[in-house]
Amino acid sequence: MKKEELGTSFCNHLLSLDTLNDYLFYYRKAVNYDRINFERLAVKRNLGLQPFFNSLNIFHKIKPFKSNHILIDSSVVEIGKKDELNDSELIDLQYILRFIKPWKKGPFTLFDTPLDSEWRSDLKWQRIEKSIGSLSGKRIADIGSNNGYFLFRMAASCPELVIGFEPVIKHWCTFSFLQSFAQVPSIHFEPLGVESLVAFDNFFHTVFCLGILYHHPDPHKILTIIYKSLQKRGKVIIDCQGIEGEESSCFFPGKRYAGAKGVWYLPTLPALFHWLSRAGFKKIECFYNEKLSSDEQRPSVWAPIKSLNDFLLSGNDSLTVEGYLAPRRFYVLAEKV
Ligand SMILES: C[S@@+](CC[C@H](N)C(=O)[O-])C[C@H]1O[C@@H](n2cnc3c(N)ncnc32)[C@H](O)[C@@H]1O
Repeated sequence: MKKEELGTSFCNHLLSLDTLNDYLFYYRKAVNYDRINFERLAVKRNLGLQPFFNSLNIFHKIKPFKSNHILIDSSVVEIGKKDELNDSELIDLQYILRFIKPWKKGPFTLFDTPLDSEWRSDLKWQRIEKSIGSLSGKRIADIGSNNGYFLFRMAASCPELVIGFEPVIKHWCTFSFLQSFAQVPSIHFEPLGVESLVAFDNFFHTVFCLGILYHHPDPHKILTIIYKSLQKRGKVIIDCQGIEGEESSCFFPGKRYAGAKGVWYLPTLPALFHWLSRAGFKKIECFYNEKLSSDEQRPSVWAPIKSLNDFLLSGNDSLTVEGYLAPRRFYVLAEKV
């Protein structure tokens, strides 16, 4: 089989569009099922244009099976034990894990290989978990779910359903690889962006929007889409990078902010509150407001890349290398009443 065909078959498997096996078929009357399938099809058609496409075949190297070892309610998400794989699979595993590098979100341990990621996503989850109440029985969306670290952590609270919306194909493949051994039934992944939430009117009880708003040129539109996708009394949980300030204002950086491209509006906390209130949200409260620290974002063996410290001014960590105010993180909870 040619490389391209293998790539296609991996994605055909993920995007089977087979209603009998589609978790959303059960919800077809509550969501705009035709629209979602149309968008899924568009993803499938465009896969050949993705930079990652020609390498998809490497994920075939280890056949999926449900591991007997799954730990999702602790800081490190653990899937699989070494003795569940044969020698050749263990070699393939190391190849696949290196191929996925850099591991930006985690930590995970996969078949006894610890994958320390650039971000200590467990620290973010620790702060969120203790502030949001139970997720048990809830329908949840995680916008920009990346490799799915938070999807696994959310699933530990026994929700009805968790859907990750993430348009980057590499993250979809990484998640699918992890899930092919974890097989946690409540978690699902759509290779679609936040824009696709319009097909889920009044559907979710909780929407997580972590690390998204400042990466988008129209944060108000995103918040409006999220608002509509929530049921009454549904909650949004935001983690937004922003800057210090008492006024309601936003900083609009040049092409890069702390080294990163694609950063648009960095709000002060009062501005973030106004964004939420203008999108219709009530009961807006902040439960975390701190400077981002290199305990949380740093290079690691599995993410040997430049990270926060490289992008703060040496000798003055209150400024970025571009001379802008250094980033803070605001975590905010708000309700659709
Ligand atoms: C800064 S990361 C945050 C990841 C994760 N939510 C977290 O808090 O660690 C932003 C994520 O949003 C994804 N993303 C990019 N465009 C998106 C879109 N239109 N809709 C949803 N997610 C998007 C990126 O691929 C990336 O995984």
